[in-house]
Amino acid sequence: MRSHDVIVIGGGLAGLRAALEAGLGGADVAIISKLHPMRAHSGSAAGGINAALSPEDSWEAHMEDTVRGSDYLADQDAVEAFCQEAPEIVIEMEHFGTIFSRGEDGKLASRPFGGHGMPRAYFAGDRTGLALMQTSYEQVLKNNLTVFEEWMVVDIVMNEGHCVGIIALDIPNGELEAFRTKAVILCTGPGGQIYRKTTNALSCTGDGMVMAYKAGLPLKDMEFVQFHPTTLLGPNILITEAARGEGGYLLNNKGERFMSKYTPKKMELGPRDITSRAIVTEIKEGLGFDGEVVHLSLTHLEPDYIRERLPEVVEYSRDFADVDATTDPIPIQPGQHYIMGGISTDVHGATSLKGVFAAGECACISLHGANRLGGNALLECLVFGKRAGAAAAAYVKNMSFEEFPDASIEGWRSRLDTLKQRAEGERTSKIRREMQDTMDEDVGIYRTEKQLSLAAKKIKELKKRHEKTIIDDKGEKFNYDLVANLELGYMLELAEVTVTSALARKESRGAHWRTDHPKRDDKKWLVHTLAHYDSKGPVLKYEPVKVTTLKPAARTY
Ligand code: FUM
Repeated sequence: MRSHDVIVIGGGLAGLRAALEAGLGGADVAIISKLHPMRAHSGSAAGGINAALSPEDSWEAHMEDTVRGSDYLADQDAVEAFCQEAPEIVIEMEHFGTIFSRGEDGKLASRPFGGHGMPRAYFAGDRTGLALMQTSYEQVLKNNLTVFEEWMVVDIVMNEGHCVGIIALDIPNGELEAFRTKAVILCTGPGGQIYRKTTNALSCTGDGMVMAYKAGLPLKDMEFVQFHPTTLLGPNILITEAARGEGGYLLNNKGERFMSKYTPKKMELGPRDITSRAIVTEIKEGLGFDGEVVHLSLTHLEPDYIRERLPEVVEYSRDFADVDATTDPIPIQPGQHYIMGGISTDVHGATSLKGVFAAGECACISLHGANRLGGNALLECLVFGKRAGAAAAAYVKNMSFEEFPDASIEGWRSRLDTLKQRAEGERTSKIRREMQDTMDEDVGIYRTEKQLSLAAKKIKELKKRHEKTIIDDKGEKFNYDLVANLELGYMLELAEVTVTSALARKESRGAHWRTDHPKRDDKKWLVHTLAHYDSKGPVLKYEPVKVTTLKPAARTY
C-alpha cells in the first residue's frame, strides 16, 4: 500500500501552498488531485489578492473592512491573523516569481475592490489566480513533492479517532486504491456546482466537505452562499470585480448608474451581497434588459487600458456573448460564486478529528462570515494553506503509520460494483439538473420559508432517487460517467446542508437574505451554524461568534 506522512487532497492554490509548507517542515508529502493542478479552479480567480502593503494602509483597516463586509459574523481572532500575515505572504509570492502588474513607478499596482476602504487588491492583469498557481506549482516541482493527478479521493479513513488513510479512484485506470497516511489536509475547494448559474468549474462538487462531514466533522455556516454580481449572461463565467475596480459602471435600461440608490458612497464598489441584491431588484422592477440582465459598461475607458488591465473580460465577452467590451456594454447577472461556510477549523487549519486538517474554500475558519470581500479568497488559500501545512508537518513528526482497516476499501469496491451492474434506473444528469434548478429557484439571493421548505423536500427526494441511478459506461478507464455519479452524491449532501441551515436561520445577514425575516438579529443570531451528519438529515447546533475589538454595527456603504 502506498504511504505518505501527509496527503494533501486537492491541487488548487491552498493545496499547493499547504503541500509546500508540509514538505519544508520535513514531512513526506503527496498531493492527490482530481485534475492536473494547473486546471484547478483557483486558476479562474481573476481580479486580485488583498494586502495592506501601502504606507497609507494598515492591517487594522483591512480587518475592519473584512469584519464589516462579513456582516459581523467573522471570527475576529481569525481575521486579525489573516490581515496581519497578508503583506508577508504577497511579498513571498512575488519573491517566488509571481509576475504582478506594476504601476508607472515600478511598484506593485493595486486596484480598489468592493467593500474595501482603499485600493489593496494586488493583481496580475485579470489572471491573478493563474499567476499565483503557476508560481506555487513551480515551487512544488522544485521541492520534488509527489503529485497524483487525475485521482479522485472518495473517502478519508479513520481508525480509533485518528485519520489513517484515504481511498482514491485512479481515474485513467479505474482502480480504487488505499493510501496510508498520518494526516490529510483537505483542500478540495468549493461546491458551487449544486447551482446551475455558477462561476464554479464543473469539478467544484464539494467532495472534500462531504467526506469530512460524513467522517464526523461539522460543516459551518453553509447557508451563506455568495452570488457574484457580475457573471456573463449564458455561461455565467465570472466577469471580474476588477472591471468595476478599474472604473466600470452598472447601468439599468434607463441608462442610470443605479447603485447610487443602494450604496451611494461606494457606487459600483459596494460589497457583493448588497450589489447582487440591487441588480436582482432592478431586474424585478422592470429596469433590466430582456428581464434577465443589467449592463456592465467599460466604454468610457480607454480601449488600450481595458485590453491591458482586463484581457480576459475582453476575451470572454467576445467569445461567449459576441460583445466587444471596449465599445459595447456587457450583459451581466448575479451567479453563485463562493461558499463562505465549510469544514470547521481553527486558525491552524486543524479540525476536531485527529489528523484531519483543511484549508481554502472547503474550510471555514471563519474569516468571511456572512459575506466575503473580493480579493480575500486567494489570500485565504495562501495564509491558511501555509498554516495548515506547517501544523500537519508538526503533527506527524515522531508518529508512526497506523493500521488501515481493509473493510473500508472493500465497502467502496462493492458499492461501485453495484452501481456498475445496475441495469435500470435514472441517469445522473437528470437528477443533477433538477438539483441545480431547485437551488437556483429556491435557495438563491432572496429566500423565504416556503421556498426553502420546498427545496428541502425536493433534495430529500433527489437523494433517494440518486441511490437507484444507473451509469452507461461500465468500463474502467477514464470512466467520467462514474465520476459524475459519485460527485452527485456529494453535491446532494451539500445541498441538503445548505438548505437545512438556511431554513433554520430566521434573519437576514450578509448573503443570506430572508424576505420573511428581513432584519439582522444580533440578539438571537450572532452565532455560527454547525451542521452535523446524521443518516436522517443534518443536525444543527450553534456556537457564538468571536468578537474581539469590533462591535457589531449597522453596515452602510
Ligand atoms: O471578481 C473577482 O475577480 C473575484 C475575486 C474573488 O472572488 O476574490
